[in-house]
Amino acid sequence: MTNQTAIPAGIDLREEIDRLRKERNAVILAHYYQKPELQDLADFVGDSLELSRKAADTDADVIAFCGVKFMAETAKILSPEKIVVLPDMDAGCSLEDSCPPEKFKAFRERHPDHIALTYINCSTEVKALSDVIVTSSSAETILQQIPKDQKIIFGPDRHLGGYLNRKFDRDMLLWPGVCIVHEAFSETELLKLKAEHPEAPVAAHPECPPHIIDHADMVGSTSAILTYAKNFPGDTLIVATEPHIMHQMEKALPEKTFIGAPGADGNCNCNICPYMALNNLEKLYLCLRDMEPRIEIEESLRADAQKSLDKMLEMAGGTVGKGDLGAIDGD
Ligand code: 13P
Ligand code: SF4
Repeated sequence: MTNQTAIPAGIDLREEIDRLRKERNAVILAHYYQKPELQDLADFVGDSLELSRKAADTDADVIAFCGVKFMAETAKILSPEKIVVLPDMDAGCSLEDSCPPEKFKAFRERHPDHIALTYINCSTEVKALSDVIVTSSSAETILQQIPKDQKIIFGPDRHLGGYLNRKFDRDMLLWPGVCIVHEAFSETELLKLKAEHPEAPVAAHPECPPHIIDHADMVGSTSAILTYAKNFPGDTLIVATEPHIMHQMEKALPEKTFIGAPGADGNCNCNICPYMALNNLEKLYLCLRDMEPRIEIEESLRADAQKSLDKMLEMAGGTVGKGDLGAIDGD
């Protein structure tokens, strides 16, 4: 944990972050689910695949990762020579928590004729136990390259895996994990919202459960949803994913209206990711100043995890769900 009391009184956090970023030759990467102030000062904002590529390619000495731990670990796995800092080391993920490595290993051992196609939202240990990693923007391209008769374990997100099974007529064995954020959308409240805005299409992330996906006009990664927001005909869009993504839509498309899909009481904050929300300007300043909390991974584990991530980067090819709004480079 970081010590926020150590911040000198009266400093301008944005100026200090800027000074430290230059002094340390650091790049600040941010996911679309981060608070607007973090997205706005990042050098690069993207989805999980774009952020992985950026981490693998950057020539910075330090990566300050405004996202969750598995994302910062991915950056370290792909760029081991760099210092990777995460503003809050408690920024986890319910999908990662649902898949303890020892249980995943035992599951794999019970299915020796299956390969493991694994969502990037998992621990380094689970990546090391997997054959190919996917993100939501690369999963379809990668799955289509795997022969239909190849047996597959897909974890840890059963909703993304179920969506892929239905779309491509596969029968991958699904690990029973869910994202608590996407799980919280309410079908009843979504139907009420659709009735109020009959012209508005629904864009949903594939981490949503099927009863939400069934009402979606498009399903895709964060970057694909951003592209859809730019191109859909009409002026109002219902967005079924973590609401901080709407910051990029509202900035780029002020003439359109974006409405977050509702949770159970129709008006809750239950769709804000509590892990992503742990990061803030103060903690970003402190991690750039103190060079901690820092991601450290034992070398043989890192090298094993890199194999499945390299496979993803190779098989994803040029695939990114990005468009004009996807992968936003800072100045
Ligand atoms: P993408 O940005 O790759 O769509 O992933 C969303 C997510 O699960 C972040 O936790
Ligand atoms: Fe994990 Fe869901 Fe939060 Fe993404 S939004 S980090 S999948 S809990």
